[in-house]
Amino acid sequence: MSEDSIISSLRDDSLPTADARWSRRPEPCALVIFGITGDLAHRKIVPALCSLIADRQTADSMAVVGVGRRDIPMERLLTELRAASDRHARRRPVSDGVWSEFARRFVYHHGAFDDPATYEALRQRLRLLDETLGTHGNRVFYLATPPDLFLPIVRYLGRAGLICSAHEQCWSRVVVEKPFGHDLQSARDLNAGLAQVLREDQTYRIDHYLGKETVRNLLVFRFANTIFEPVWTHQYIDHVQITVAESIGVDDRGEFFDKIGTLRDMIQNHLLQLLSIVAMEPPSAVSPELVRDEKLKVLRAIRRMSVQEALSLSVRGQYGPGMVNGENVPGYRHEEGVRPDSPTETYAALRLDIENWRWSGTPFYLRAGKRLPKRVTEIAVQFRRVPHMIFPDGSPYVNSNVLVLRIQPDEGIALRLTSKVPGQGTRLQPVRMEFRYGSVFGVEPPDAYERLLLDVMLGDSTLFNRGDEVEAAWEVVAPVLEAWQDRPVEFPNYPAGTWGPPAADEFIRRDGRSWRRP
Ligand code: BG6
Repeated sequence: MSEDSIISSLRDDSLPTADARWSRRPEPCALVIFGITGDLAHRKIVPALCSLIADRQTADSMAVVGVGRRDIPMERLLTELRAASDRHARRRPVSDGVWSEFARRFVYHHGAFDDPATYEALRQRLRLLDETLGTHGNRVFYLATPPDLFLPIVRYLGRAGLICSAHEQCWSRVVVEKPFGHDLQSARDLNAGLAQVLREDQTYRIDHYLGKETVRNLLVFRFANTIFEPVWTHQYIDHVQITVAESIGVDDRGEFFDKIGTLRDMIQNHLLQLLSIVAMEPPSAVSPELVRDEKLKVLRAIRRMSVQEALSLSVRGQYGPGMVNGENVPGYRHEEGVRPDSPTETYAALRLDIENWRWSGTPFYLRAGKRLPKRVTEIAVQFRRVPHMIFPDGSPYVNSNVLVLRIQPDEGIALRLTSKVPGQGTRLQPVRMEFRYGSVFGVEPPDAYERLLLDVMLGDSTLFNRGDEVEAAWEVVAPVLEAWQDRPVEFPNYPAGTWGPPAADEFIRRDGRSWRRP
């Protein structure tokens, strides 16, 4: 019997399996997408909506209003959106039935984002939809626009009377995409500006990593099993490595990425969110405030470095030309939209220390990079070595226990153990226990955007960032940003298709450890 089939046979079909939230249907509402003609709407939002419609997860009375600046006939826009959904939806190509359901609910609202007339016309249009489609005055406003438009749009929405107040029957929710600020001060300013128009419970700051099935499973793994929690401490865990490796470069986002870099693009949000879930204390229930309170405590417990320390607790890199998946690829500075002498990092690694009773003495190493040899996101929990090895040839295995939570691809969990090789002697060898989502559950999990769109429509903000979390995460990376700002390093410093700059290996070796090769 294979390992997978052993795990499958443990499934208890007599227990209810449906996720209670997943099986709830949202209330009627209008979903208003600012930036409908843009990349995010095409590649993520509309395809996710199509999959939700296919799964009958949306309300029957749902309208989709796309707002955009491009003067394009609605039919042509629909053709473009269909082509994108056929390419990107989980259930692709989209069936004619699902598409006509989507098209029936869709309307294109053309207008400039900085023109009050756009919002006045939008208000009238939404009121009409309340009457014709029964959307009850409920709205989700999704800001899939460049970040400098987030605040102006929210202010216009407020002025046009499009945000319901607490004593009205209707509800309004606003989804704010990343990047949420450029640094601590701009994130504070954005939070303060949003708070003038929206209550915190109306503000949904999205981090799509939180919607990934495997990330949601981290909570279940940690808090629905008893055996890991007692060893989930500095006493048993030597260190944790969180890796988000991408084999892609910057695609057609060169100009945008060049202003941002990996620390802001990946570490400040996705990797710190993963860290906070791995390190948090058990909340007393899964509710937006309880879960986010615990994550916030972790972010606040991360030791704040001085700018000087930040230099030795971080490494940055930028890829030069190289070979990825058997193909020659250009260096970062030759990508479209990138400055030819760009100082922007495409690789970043940090060591963070959490100062609390659970984690004191157990560092967390975070690394993220583009044009690495493969795409893999994983959290590796390295357990401490056995205190005394009693087997004569056992010394290479004293620190063999590693628990790897594979977020993507090949989603699953693996535990590395030391075992005796069958035979007369006592020869030891590492072995792996594996759980693979694909083979155990046999279904493709929903895309992160499906989960998160549904949660907004359900009014569940557990998997969205609260304003104080975002600010705490910026506080963590602020000294690193400052340390890097005026101290350029020689770039490029790693060839595309390698695991980052040699300095990153040296950085962790100084602590007597090494990076895993996933
Ligand atoms: C985005 C970053 O937030 O996440 C991109 O802006 C990155 O640069 C992407 O490529 C990675 O997401 P995923 O889901 O493919 O791991």
